[in-house]
Amino acid sequence: MTTPGSSYIECSGLFKIYKAADLEVVALRGLELTVKKGEIIAIVGASGSGKSTLLNILAGYDAPSAGTVRVGDYDLLQMTNREVVQYRRHEVGFIWQETSRNLFPYLTALENVELPMVIAGAPGPERRQRAQELLDVVGLADRAGHKPAQLSGGEQQRVAIAVGLSNQPPLLLADEPTGELDDETGDEVLELLNRVNVDLGATIIIVTHDPAIATSVGRAITIRDGKTSTETTREISFERKLGGDATETEEFLLIDSAGSVQIPREILDELKIGRRVRVDMKDGKVTLESGD
Ligand SMILES: Nc1ncnc2c1ncn2[C@@H]1O[C@H](COP(=O)(O)OP(=O)(O)O)[C@@H](O)[C@H]1O
Ligand SMILES: [Mg+2]
Repeated sequence: MTTPGSSYIECSGLFKIYKAADLEVVALRGLELTVKKGEIIAIVGASGSGKSTLLNILAGYDAPSAGTVRVGDYDLLQMTNREVVQYRRHEVGFIWQETSRNLFPYLTALENVELPMVIAGAPGPERRQRAQELLDVVGLADRAGHKPAQLSGGEQQRVAIAVGLSNQPPLLLADEPTGELDDETGDEVLELLNRVNVDLGATIIIVTHDPAIATSVGRAITIRDGKTSTETTREISFERKLGGDATETEEFLLIDSAGSVQIPREILDELKIGRRVRVDMKDGKVTLESGD
């Protein structure tokens, strides 16, 4: 059960190994992640670092090879098929990078937003009204009758956000939501995600290869080789979230549950630290010194 003040998402020692023919790919290796209810975070990493793998696991589309994942009251490793369906339907909304993958081309924007509610069995008038409200939230009330092909890429992603929010999921996952958009349109989509986070209280995780996106959210976590390595936090005021002035940032290294820290390669090289270090504690500080 979730207790007040406890984290909403908790991944610990997460491994995902893909087996293709006789080749094994370790996509996640002991990943740790904690997200509080109502947070908006970015997970930033190079192509192939395991971002989509992580998001697919959090979405309930894929199961990890080892480790634990909890989202709210759901233990993602212990779910029955029925619970998986419930989880996908009511706990998470998902936005894909490919704008075309988010929407059905032969349905209007309004029908696309209504569709998840149709599947969940919501009554007609209720879902029509909610779909209209959501299109209003994403600023596309006047495009309700347009099909995806009649919308720009940015507008399609905004409709996709409305689709993702259709069944009022507490969690919204976005896999490179601005990947196919130009900078300006991408910024608008990020601003919308921030607004949805503030106004609707949804917890939002955005994964991206673009470090610049890190400046649009309160906390950005870097993923390297299937493991979370550093975290940048910002003092973000409400105004900043909605596009105000820049603020202070601070970068931290993350410590996993085994106590491991990944020291950046540049520091190791500069201090000529190789295979081992001597650890000292003095005046409340820890120092690492080459032990080779
Ligand atoms: N279905 C799969 N089968 C085999 N390998 C995969 C599969 N999906 C992803 N991978 C591999 O896992 C690693 C992480 O992939 P992915 O999570 O898609 O990274 P990212 O989204 O950060 O680009 C990559 O090396 C990728 O080739
Ligand atoms: Mg990816």
